[in-house]
Amino acid sequence: MSATPHASDPAIDPALYLPRMARILEVTPLTAREKYFKVELPEPLGHRPGQFVMLSLLGVGEAPISISCGPRADNMLEMVIRDAGSLTHVLHGLKPGQQVGVRGPFGSGFNLDDFYGKQVLCVVGGLGLVPMRSLIQPILAQLDRFASLTIISGCRSPAEELYRDEVRAWERLGQETGKVRVIRLVDRTQNLPWDGQVGLVTAPLSSLPIDPAQTVVALCGPPVMYKFVLLELTARGLSHAQIFVDLERRMKCGVGKCGHCQINHVYCCQEGPVFRFDQIAHLPEALQ
Ligand SMILES: Cc1cc2nc3c(=O)[nH]c(=O)nc-3n(C[C@H](O)[C@H](O)[C@H](O)COP(=O)(O)OP(=O)(O)OC[C@H]3O[C@@H](n4cnc5c(N)ncnc54)[C@H](O)[C@@H]3O)c2cc1C
Ligand code: FES
Repeated sequence: MSATPHASDPAIDPALYLPRMARILEVTPLTAREKYFKVELPEPLGHRPGQFVMLSLLGVGEAPISISCGPRADNMLEMVIRDAGSLTHVLHGLKPGQQVGVRGPFGSGFNLDDFYGKQVLCVVGGLGLVPMRSLIQPILAQLDRFASLTIISGCRSPAEELYRDEVRAWERLGQETGKVRVIRLVDRTQNLPWDGQVGLVTAPLSSLPIDPAQTVVALCGPPVMYKFVLLELTARGLSHAQIFVDLERRMKCGVGKCGHCQINHVYCCQEGPVFRFDQIAHLPEALQ
């Protein structure tokens, strides 16, 4: 019988089990429920787009939170946290100068090699923009390596729009370069000012000027959105191997030990949360 790995074992990367303390530099409300956090780690995180960290507060708890910035050489980590429960509520009360624990980065993430030279289509729903930004930023930083970038981003109402100013800056970049297209949608305007479209993120897909053979898709959003987006993409002639989905599951350990995150036999915290869809399409629980 093999011995149980322990954090003190030199063969085990301590970053798996031991949080590093990070200092909060900025906390900015983005909506009534979501706040942007910028924290400084003792060393660079060294993450890929689409990975996540386990964020903790001593005596309160720990939760998986997506990394919202592209790979970077400095020690900064950006996140957006929704006030959803016991830990996230306490996190919302923190101020610059206070500390949080960070384990990770964890998970598969997106591999930029899958996107180079392609027409990249990012379809985003709600909080999905948080991890998707970690892919969009490196694409925009080296736009000449991609054929084009289309971002379709939807949320329920104008009041729930995340990264409002930044998304408009991406839109302006599109007008300047001709290589970026941003389509912003809300389900309903709720009588608030809105300069985008009204409808679901599936609506623009049927008439989108893309070459299906040259397109690679990244999907981040609620599971209910995936089923309908996948139907539209299949109708456009895209195969499941051209589509990467970011799936979230309840997670506790983040390192393949507790089983909380399982999709059938697949550990979402390790093999996901980003999957090429053809590799999980056969799993009955994939899109639940
Ligand atoms: C890979 C991954 C990335 C995530 N990224 C982000 C992010 O960038 N920003 C963000 O705000 N949240 C993110 N989440 C969700 C976040 O982890 C949960 O909201 C958090 O665990 C809630 O903790 P809490 O103690 O505040 O709430 P609790 O008091 O534990 O629960 C409050 C409510 O949230 C529900 N809940 C708990 N965990 C989850 C979960 N994993 N998914 C959905 N509902 C949950 C509970 O059922 C309950 O209804 C992510 C989750 C995963 C798995
Ligand atoms: S979160 Fe524990 S096994 Fe995946």
